[in-house]
Amino acid sequence: MKPNIKNIAVLTSGGDAPGMNACIRAVVRTGIYNGVNMFGVLQGYQGLINDNIIPMDARSVSNTIHMGGTILKTARCLEFKTEEGMEIAFKNLQARDIDGLVVIGGDGTFTGAQRFGKKFGVRVMGVPGTIDNDLYGSDFTLGYDTAINTVIEAIDKIRDTADSHDRLFFIEVMGRDSGCIALRSGIASGAEAVLLPEKETSLDELIAQLESGASTKKSSSIVIVSEGNKFGGAYDIAKKVKERFNHYDTKVTILGHLQRGGSPSSFDRILGSRLGFAAVNELLKGNTMHMVGLRGNSIETTSIEEALTRHFFKLESDLLEMTKVLSI
Ligand code: F6P
Repeated sequence: MKPNIKNIAVLTSGGDAPGMNACIRAVVRTGIYNGVNMFGVLQGYQGLINDNIIPMDARSVSNTIHMGGTILKTARCLEFKTEEGMEIAFKNLQARDIDGLVVIGGDGTFTGAQRFGKKFGVRVMGVPGTIDNDLYGSDFTLGYDTAINTVIEAIDKIRDTADSHDRLFFIEVMGRDSGCIALRSGIASGAEAVLLPEKETSLDELIAQLESGASTKKSSSIVIVSEGNKFGGAYDIAKKVKERFNHYDTKVTILGHLQRGGSPSSFDRILGSRLGFAAVNELLKGNTMHMVGLRGNSIETTSIEEALTRHFFKLESDLLEMTKVLSI
């Protein structure tokens, strides 16, 4: 039986990601279209605890689809990990008769949602919003496409100077436990090697690859280092490589948080709109404790539990193999 949902709140939590605003807009407008009162929670779970909850109407999300960041703000909230924190948050929802919650975020956000939903029976629908692309159940998470575009724009510029000076660059990109950004931006920017957390590359292997390039007259090279890789940061790897392979002048660039900002790509605006629309419709149908995601070209649901536990299988190893061939 369909629940009679009258009030839905939406929040963004964890690291912001381009496309979150497109998603918030879709959530708010889909709810209003269906006669639901909509609320926005400011600063993620922290806002739930602090009772920072505001009513939203169709105009609250006007002119936001093109904006990076999140108009609802975000936070990483330690207090929500405690029983007391969750209880306060629940009381604040109860006080407004909020019977559905859309959470947009990454694995930390979903872990919180799972505990909260289980403990208090709150109807929760997750939207995968993280540049890291590290949730199972969606081929792409919100913000990932824009982040890759941002990264390749930066690498293209670095390549100009690397080529002019015949240098070897180590470029560190984000992805705490996930090499998705590194792998795809490596292909799109023509990088010589990519170091990922999911698949260890030995120093010997990396040096052999660089030597082979140098011996076939490559005058410059780019190595993309995912921040979660086992060697350490890009500076550490650059040092280790230089000790054994001194063919090029070596430089390091850490791209850092610029990867999280910026206007979302068309892909992320459309994905955010589709996922937000689907999240509310799923709640209205009676679905809960699931995540909406893109598989192929369809929007499908996956239980939050599965989304959290299976993400380590996401590495596109065929693309990694291809990178090796295309960078000779
Ligand atoms: O949003 C995900 C992510 O960008 C990770 O790749 C990175 O490790 C982390 O966030 C850094 O986040 P913060 O600056 O919020 O600590």
